[in-house]
Amino acid sequence: MEVKVFDDYHSLSRYAANLFLQQVRQKPESVLGLATGGTPEGFYRQLVQMSNEESISYKAIRTFNLDEYYPINHNHPQSYWTFMKNHLFSHVSINENNIFIPNGETSDVERECERYEQLLKEKGGIDLQILGIGENGHIGFNEPGASFASRTRVVELTPNTIQANSRFFTSAQDVPRHAITMGIASILESKKIIVLASGKKKAKVVSEAINGKVTEEVPASVLQHHPNVLFLVDQEAAVNL
Ligand code: GLP
Repeated sequence: MEVKVFDDYHSLSRYAANLFLQQVRQKPESVLGLATGGTPEGFYRQLVQMSNEESISYKAIRTFNLDEYYPINHNHPQSYWTFMKNHLFSHVSINENNIFIPNGETSDVERECERYEQLLKEKGGIDLQILGIGENGHIGFNEPGASFASRTRVVELTPNTIQANSRFFTSAQDVPRHAITMGIASILESKKIIVLASGKKKAKVVSEAINGKVTEEVPASVLQHHPNVLFLVDQEAAVNL
């Protein structure tokens, strides 16, 4: 596991965008794993700007998002569909048929999870996965206690996550109670993983994930077992390292 510490959020985001673009240039048909949340917003801003400056083609790129609230309409302002459209997809030349996000509108959620896991396999697995980290150590929506063997499935959000994500909704009441998330085993199959962590709220969990015991109580600690993980952390998130 490699860790890079940056002076600020801007330089962290820029560095991540550069690595991502390198992947797109090297393998224009890459399968890319995408994350949502507050942390990657700067990364997407930089990525869109650089991609447009360099006229990078996303035509052959395939993308898989980690997770989606359940239930939620695609067009809900806080769905991860809407997030991805606003932050990336409407700004680059991606083919809509190559965008994969768990369907939060499905009436058969078990089947949707199987379909998603199957699609990941069919497309050859993820070349580069971008990850955020929850204050409680969650990755995707794999909350503390999630099995390291877990696959794409529907999960219940913890009160901590509902509270943390309520800042994007009118109130905590409006945050969906469930989500569809890629499992920990699914995430670990990615060839490369870049984790983004910013701000002092993440300092505790960043040190637990990097230097702590590998335990299902801190889902991100499992990354210590992956052969190709890069943590990009700003000063505030790195204070306990
Ligand atoms: C969200 C997402 C995660 C994200 C995490 C941290 O709920 N499901 O994929 O990494 O929580 O979010 P933030 O970057 O806003 O702190």
